[in-house]
Amino acid sequence: MKKRNIIIDCDPGIDDTVALSFAIANEDKLNILGITTVAGNQTIEKVTLNALRIVSYYKRNIKIAMGQGRPLIREKSSGGSIHGEDGLGDCSLPEPALKLYSDNAITFLRDTIMAQDEKVTLVPVGPLTNIALLIKVFPEVKEKIELISLMGGSTIGGNRTPYAEYNVWADPEAARIVFDSRLPIVMSGLTVTLSAGLYKDDVEILSRGGGKATGLLGRMLDYYFRGDHVKKGTFTPIHDACALMYLLYPQIFEFRHTEVLVDCSEGLNRGNTAVDMRDWVKYDTTYPKVLTKVDTEKFREILLNDLYKLDGMV
Ligand code: RIB
Ligand code: CA
Repeated sequence: MKKRNIIIDCDPGIDDTVALSFAIANEDKLNILGITTVAGNQTIEKVTLNALRIVSYYKRNIKIAMGQGRPLIREKSSGGSIHGEDGLGDCSLPEPALKLYSDNAITFLRDTIMAQDEKVTLVPVGPLTNIALLIKVFPEVKEKIELISLMGGSTIGGNRTPYAEYNVWADPEAARIVFDSRLPIVMSGLTVTLSAGLYKDDVEILSRGGGKATGLLGRMLDYYFRGDHVKKGTFTPIHDACALMYLLYPQIFEFRHTEVLVDCSEGLNRGNTAVDMRDWVKYDTTYPKVLTKVDTEKFREILLNDLYKLDGMV
């Protein structure tokens, strides 16, 4: 089967790290052309260092390009303590062997996409600043983009505010540019990602198992259950993994095509993604595909299986 060309745009971030790990575990199906970083969970310096650390830890030689350090217009934000001071649950990975390939993610994205014979799928799992700049500054890339499978938005209320999911809230103008681009989009919003993750027991077993990848990810994910930075519980969503899981196992999701209107106001509604969920109103397939349901048990089974597979690959 032909591999799918992908570029992952991320702000690692614990769940970003799980998503990157899941992608590398599936390198037999995915041609990872590069990883670009964007400020979000932590500063651009920290998330870029984290991307280099993670790829070096797995002894992979994937091109990494540093992206935007702040939103298009809004003030910089951060994920606060949700991902720890270092952005990786304070798991302090070794210093990277890999060097930064480019300090300009936008030109890296353009050059990489235009150099491919086949189209490229973009997998943004942080604020959409880089992607918005890419399609505005270099619109010629649009015909070479197969799909944008993004983690962001929500149809059931927010996590950063009562109405807005963090990635869209952080840079709503960028999100509006991407959703208004009419490029093929699959939106993994909180609607599905809050039900896509692992149980506390899964994480404890991972962290004690001694696997190179699963041991690290277990310790990282355990951070979510330790602090009081997120509501305590027995289940942790792994938001960003959804955007990749859809590419490999679309059958475990349900969806609806609908317009997605990003609120760019200043107030409480900032970053709200308004969608039309009236099932008697039909939208054609040129509108974004908004994921509405996920088979949680299948998601968990596939993710665990592939992360354990990664242990034997690194
Ligand atoms: O709202 C969840 C998103 O915000 C995820 O991408 C997580 O990494 C944070 O960036
Ligand atoms: Ca993220």
